[in-house]
Amino acid sequence: MRTTVSVIKADIGSVAGHVVVHPDTIATATRVLAEAKAKGVIFDFYVTNAGDDLELIMTHRKGVDSPEVHEVAWTAFKEAAKVARELGLYAAGQDLLSDAFSGNVRGLGPGVAEMEFYERPSEPIAVFMADKTEPGAFNLPMFKIFADPFNTAGLVIDPKLHAGFRFEVYDVFEGKSVLMNSPEEMYDILALIGTPGRYIVRRIYRRLDDEIAAVVSVERLSLIAGRYVGKDDPVAVVRAQAGFPAIGEILEAFAFPHLVAGWMRGSHHGPLMPVPQRYSRCTRFDGPPRLVGLGFQVRNSKLIGPVDLFDDPAFDETRRLAQRIADYVRRHGPFMPHRLGPEEMEYTTLPEVLEKLKDRFIKIEGATKAAEPKLKTDLLSRETKEGD
Ligand code: F6R
Ligand code: MG
Ligand code: MG
Repeated sequence: MRTTVSVIKADIGSVAGHVVVHPDTIATATRVLAEAKAKGVIFDFYVTNAGDDLELIMTHRKGVDSPEVHEVAWTAFKEAAKVARELGLYAAGQDLLSDAFSGNVRGLGPGVAEMEFYERPSEPIAVFMADKTEPGAFNLPMFKIFADPFNTAGLVIDPKLHAGFRFEVYDVFEGKSVLMNSPEEMYDILALIGTPGRYIVRRIYRRLDDEIAAVVSVERLSLIAGRYVGKDDPVAVVRAQAGFPAIGEILEAFAFPHLVAGWMRGSHHGPLMPVPQRYSRCTRFDGPPRLVGLGFQVRNSKLIGPVDLFDDPAFDETRRLAQRIADYVRRHGPFMPHRLGPEEMEYTTLPEVLEKLKDRFIKIEGATKAAEPKLKTDLLSRETKEGD
């Protein structure tokens, strides 16, 4: 039998603004999942949170995109959102963009990362859950884990890893995907995934035998809703050891607190700080963006664990560096590159502010008009043009 691991998450409301999930919503989701387990729809589950995001980690035998399993998740979020409304939690029901469930939660708001595999005799996995950032935040660490021999010693040493990995990259603007092989196409992969707001590593396969190695949620709420409705705080599942990167090679990729988009109002770059579960609450300037990692063994479709993977002093220096970077970038205030560029700001409330200014502009005598920007990145000139 093949086992499926499904991690499905949504922000359905939180305490003291966008800080942390309420225990009653966790309890509600736990009840719904316990009922599904009793009915045999799912085999096991673990409900937790990453900051203000409610996270459902489930195992079952129904494959990815199972309508039954997605319905369980949808019901858990709906019920939890009901409790959130009763408690007056902030942004109750935020990520549930639709009222109607039609067989799959994708496109309705929740983020989804699922993979199906034959369990190895021992099957370690890592589940990563981020808050106040976007799915492309995983691009850099996924590349390091599966393509960078300076991160992953096994790429050089272990014959099972040595053949490399295949990256499935999504273009979330065009709704297209491409498969690319590492190491040969490493530079082409980087040419895409270096733009993490658009090109997102969705899945990674081991080339030796096409076994699934990793999956990342790619939902971008703003692209679904057409406006800013909170960041698309992503989740990922990675298989570890015995022919996959060791758990320590996987975690090593997060020892560098790289800059990601998100943070305050989903509009700022900041360092991704790996933290133990107890520090998964974004306070300073609604951040800085956090990452929680939980390790499990999957056995007969049950979850053994978790281990709180970043609850280790070995990551103290990463956290300290993240805080120094946070201090540094914060001093830019409303200036780029701390604030995101215009293309990303299109989905925030900034265009409403710019709209008010467009009629104030007057022509500069003798000035020639610069070439039209190829990308629709320059909000102001676009607004002015439309106002012509
Ligand atoms: C980031 C996030 C928060 C809010 C901010 C303003 O993902 O959700 O940073 O954008 O707290 O929230 P509102 O507009 O709800 O007051
Ligand atoms: Mg929130
Ligand atoms: Mg969140």
